[in-house]
Amino acid sequence: MVPTITVEPTKTTSKVEFPDSLGFGKIFTDRMFSQRFCPAKGWYDAKIGPYQQISLDPATTVFHNGQMIFDGTKAYRRKDGDINLFRPELNVERFNLSAQRMGMPEVNPQSHLNAIRELVRLEEQWVPNMEGTALYIRPTMISVEKTLEVRASKEYLHFIILTPVAPYFADGFSPVSVLVSDNYVRAVPGGTGQAKTPGNYAGSIAATEVALKKGYQQVLWLDGVERKYIDEVGAMNIAFVLNGNEIVTPSLTGAILHGVTRKSLLDLAPQLGYPITERRIGIDEIIEGLSSGTVTEIFGMGTGAVIAPVGQLSYKNQAILVRDGKPGPIATRLYKELTSLQRGLTEDTNNWTQIIKI
Ligand SMILES: Cc1ncc(COP(=O)(O)O)c(C=O)c1O
Repeated sequence: MVPTITVEPTKTTSKVEFPDSLGFGKIFTDRMFSQRFCPAKGWYDAKIGPYQQISLDPATTVFHNGQMIFDGTKAYRRKDGDINLFRPELNVERFNLSAQRMGMPEVNPQSHLNAIRELVRLEEQWVPNMEGTALYIRPTMISVEKTLEVRASKEYLHFIILTPVAPYFADGFSPVSVLVSDNYVRAVPGGTGQAKTPGNYAGSIAATEVALKKGYQQVLWLDGVERKYIDEVGAMNIAFVLNGNEIVTPSLTGAILHGVTRKSLLDLAPQLGYPITERRIGIDEIIEGLSSGTVTEIFGMGTGAVIAPVGQLSYKNQAILVRDGKPGPIATRLYKELTSLQRGLTEDTNNWTQIIKI
């Protein structure tokens, strides 16, 4: 049975005024969803109430064993004023995949989705409508039992917060630069790489700092075993265009995230006439292909940036410009097609969007 959500009275912002620069995850809406878990009751106390601080004992498990997961999807303002969610059921599926991997209880997919829909509906005035903007939805689950024992916590808190966001990269749809990390690795098959758990991100920060200091925006990760094959970029999956038409993207090895944008492009690209294949892709194949001209575009894919063309790639101290640092035609077309679908500007023949009527 799907539990009902209690809606608590909340003092709301009388008129939402967005700052000139929204950034990514800087301001938050008035309300949040939360529910708790314990073995005797399962999930209980599902409610939408005021956005507020969480008070936890210093010995709470999440601070020590890091049992925690999160996810990210967006609500888009449609031209008619209603709101679109884009394949949110895939994010719910991934949330539960992450929960399984981290030894945490799964949520009821329908009640998680209802919580997202109801929260977004109540906070609808926070959905911006400027080009490239959206209301980012951040479901999170943390372990909250008070113990230092390294085992699954018995108690959990699941919450959802919302933040109006600009495009993930400040310049919007413009090429990003990536540094291939040949020193650090992010994940190995059998590890936690395909779970959206903060440890993966914490482990990437030192490498990201190195990249930023060298003038690159993101790290491109190689596989953690042979350090020969391409896994993914910091917060995106990655794809390569070969000979101006065929797209290849690394297969899901257990070490990379099951991206919703990646999955959508696997479905959408062939509909637009671009064959797309999932396979292992060697970094050497890409470096050679860039110099011979067979690799004609590189782009990242993720909810934050949607499609981010890669304009420069650095590997073993060799910096290589991709398409002279300019976006390629296929990345540009895919960006337009996906963003138009998300905002309800083109017909959704795949039934990917869910409308929240305002
Ligand atoms: C490590 C990583 N890979 C890939 C992605 C892209 O996934 P999605 O398209 O579902 O946003 C993300 C973003 O969530 C990510 O953090």
